[in-house]
Amino acid sequence: MKSDQRRWDKRFGEKEFALGKEPNPFLKKHIHLLPRGKALDIATGEGRNAVFLAQHGFEVDAVDISEKGLRKARQLAQEKGVKINTLAVDLDQFQIEKGRYDLIANFYFLKRRLIPRIKKGLKKGGWVIFETYILDHREVGTGGPKQAKYFLKPNELIRSFKNFRILFYREGIFKEGGRKKAVASLIAEKI
Ligand SMILES: C[S@@+](CC[C@H](N)C(=O)[O-])C[C@H]1O[C@@H](n2cnc3c(N)ncnc32)[C@H](O)[C@@H]1O
Repeated sequence: MKSDQRRWDKRFGEKEFALGKEPNPFLKKHIHLLPRGKALDIATGEGRNAVFLAQHGFEVDAVDISEKGLRKARQLAQEKGVKINTLAVDLDQFQIEKGRYDLIANFYFLKRRLIPRIKKGLKKGGWVIFETYILDHREVGTGGPKQAKYFLKPNELIRSFKNFRILFYREGIFKEGGRKKAVASLIAEKI
């Protein structure tokens, strides 16, 4: 078993939802704008965002390395009366089918090598919604990863999608869900 899986299975092994059942606030705020259809939630964890997308009419594939997380994601889907398609995958290896998705969501997971695969996996006119920590989080926020490689550098996210139409971008320190966090958030369209 890979160390990532062991670590996250341990975190998700409790009865409580470690990351909560509520969707990410940035996703919640923009849900009405997102193009409906097939969605992929990358590193879905316990499924808070995947289930929210399914509640809003998306057909959702939810992928993660943690079987324990995926089990809770299915439980949450059942609680909310929706269906999601969960897949246990290692995102170091996983190939996203070309042109399959209308929406790809990536929350609090940074694997730079995945970005070209996200782009290929979207249909033309498909959207990506992405949010994760920037380096400043280490000074201002609580929680989050330890290693510097898991944080975005200044303007890194917007630059990574420069061949997309940028529909929304923010980067900085925000107070959301009762906590301070330093993040970059992006919504962009494949053109
Ligand atoms: C901080 S959590 C984010 C979960 C979810 N996106 C959310 O916002 O609630 C990071 C997730 O990445 C997953 N993960 C870590 N390494 C992975 C890998 N190599 N392949 C697939 N998933 C991985 C973990 O299991 C965990 O669910």
